Amino acid sequence: MISAIYDRRSIRKFSDTPISKEDMTEIIQSGIKAPSSKNRQPWKFIVVQGKEKEEMLKAFRQGIAREENENALLPQSAQHIPAAKYTVDIMESAPVAVFVVNSLGKGIVSELTPEERVYEICNIQSVSAAIQNMLLAATEKGIGSLWICDIYFAYAELCEWLNSEGELVAAVAFGYPNEFPQARPRESFDEVVEWRG
Ligand SMILES: Cc1cc2nc3c(=O)[nH]c(=O)nc-3n(C[C@H](O)[C@H](O)[C@H](O)COP(=O)(O)O)c2cc1C
Repeated sequence: MISAIYDRRSIRKFSDTPISKEDMTEIIQSGIKAPSSKNRQPWKFIVVQGKEKEEMLKAFRQGIAREENENALLPQSAQHIPAAKYTVDIMESAPVAVFVVNSLGKGIVSELTPEERVYEICNIQSVSAAIQNMLLAATEKGIGSLWICDIYFAYAELCEWLNSEGELVAAVAFGYPNEFPQARPRESFDEVVEWRG
């Protein structure tokens, strides 16, 4: 398990080799095994491949075009739009995309009381734990993955396309890697760890 943690990379070049349904099932089962706040298990996984993936990519690209031209959800983040377009191209090359939904989410534009916000934060932490479990399970199988939050540049369009209850949190692209990148830099242990007592 620790070697999967150390070997995992964000993969941005995938081969065409399909992933078996058995492997995808095991990867998602690993997500479902994650801990969750009060064991609420606030997740839904929507597995998108083939023709459905083409439709999703169309919605994603339409959303980015809208974000560039009108009604931007993220007006302060316009400089990241080229990277979001690159992410869509990566998703196009990956055989499988999994959209992960916080099934108890109220939607990103809804006003929340502090208590509702805490509930939401706990649910999103739970969903994130499930995503990380999936990435590690994939690594163990030699399957590459990319955790994707550029979905927020096409948020309305992707939510409409998904037509799912709850709040879309992230997507993950999966496929056999066609690149083997070096580990990306991390801040040093001493910069981020404080020992007390
Ligand atoms: C919450 C989250 C969102 C991310 N969104 C994207 C994305 O939309 N596009 C992308 O190319 N990479 C995305 N990444 C991958 C990060 O860029 C990557 O994890 C980071 O650069 C460290 O590289 P590593 O994963 O290979 O260690 C995301 C990662 C996380 C955890």
